Amino acid sequence: SMSLTFLGIESSCDDTAAAVVREDGTILASVVAGQTALHADFGGVVPEIAARAHAEKLDGCVEEALARSGLGLGDLDGIAVTAGPGLIGGVLSGVMLAKGLSAGTGLPLVGVNHLAGHALTPRLTDKISYPYLMLLVSGGHCLFLSVSGPEEFTRLGGTIDDAPGEAFDKVAKLLGLPQPGGPEVERAALAGDPRRFAFPRPLLDRPGCDLSFSGLKTAVLRQRDTLVAAQGGLHEQDRADICAGFQAAVADVLAEKTRRALEASPAPVLAVAGGVAANSVLRAALQDVAARAGVTFVAPPLRLCTDNAAMIAWAGIEAFRNGHRDGMDLAARPRWPL
Ligand code: KG4
Ligand code: ZN
Repeated sequence: SMSLTFLGIESSCDDTAAAVVREDGTILASVVAGQTALHADFGGVVPEIAARAHAEKLDGCVEEALARSGLGLGDLDGIAVTAGPGLIGGVLSGVMLAKGLSAGTGLPLVGVNHLAGHALTPRLTDKISYPYLMLLVSGGHCLFLSVSGPEEFTRLGGTIDDAPGEAFDKVAKLLGLPQPGGPEVERAALAGDPRRFAFPRPLLDRPGCDLSFSGLKTAVLRQRDTLVAAQGGLHEQDRADICAGFQAAVADVLAEKTRRALEASPAPVLAVAGGVAANSVLRAALQDVAARAGVTFVAPPLRLCTDNAAMIAWAGIEAFRNGHRDGMDLAARPRWPL
């Protein structure tokens, strides 16, 4: 056909998703079935529960995405599937389904790296050109990528321990706030004074673009314990001030490291993706860095910043145009550095 249309399948973490996307960037359908409720009692994603939920939901997600798109398998030009990195059970379910569909229809199969899916999203949403700098900040990832082609990524730096979303979630837990913690911490911080507590800015004293968030989480734990020991508990204002101080530290560190990444690898556009990109204090800090560097700032809408299959379909289209084809030997890879 004139314009490529791909089915995308995503099942590498705790969202089961399927989407139908056109080469011109039209998202004909994007279905995401989350598992937050299934894992809520465990304080994190439980691999066995995730794998089982993916296996149960994948077929239905694909059917629903096709139904919503108004297309049948015969109208497609290819099938893109996340082949890693991620929890092996989920990735396997997705890859096996995609192989079955490909074998049954003769449609080309393209294995996509989940991180490439995130990294190429600003091209789907904002039609930006290569090269650009991507900051990926989520519950599982934190890295700077220089993106110069559909399959050309240079890693400039990243976290050496926790991802920022993970830190937000742990801080929320320490303060007795619900999960996922990011939005809760942001809301509590609105009433807080970011300067009351001097939280550390990890790794700012070291050159380069690497980041660390586990020390920050420990500093929050100590501050909480100090207040509890002195007062017998936390006041609402303490909670707000801790959240504001923590959030400011995360935003400061990410902003400064982004400034350095742009300096090390100049690009006309700074793009951001991942769930933490929803944070408005962080967005404002990054916007400021971009403005000072004379660079355009691009942040896709949140539903495309977080895990979804439209980004996988899109990355599949880009890789396919680049000549990428996979066969029945496509492997599910729990670890797959870009
Ligand atoms: O990309 P994402 O949906 O999922 C994975 O990491 O797989 O990111 C989820 C993370 C969670 O840790 C959540 O707490 C965080 O993004 N998050 C936020 C905000 N909204 C979501 N962190 C800070 N501020 C927010 N407004
Ligand atoms: Zn992701």
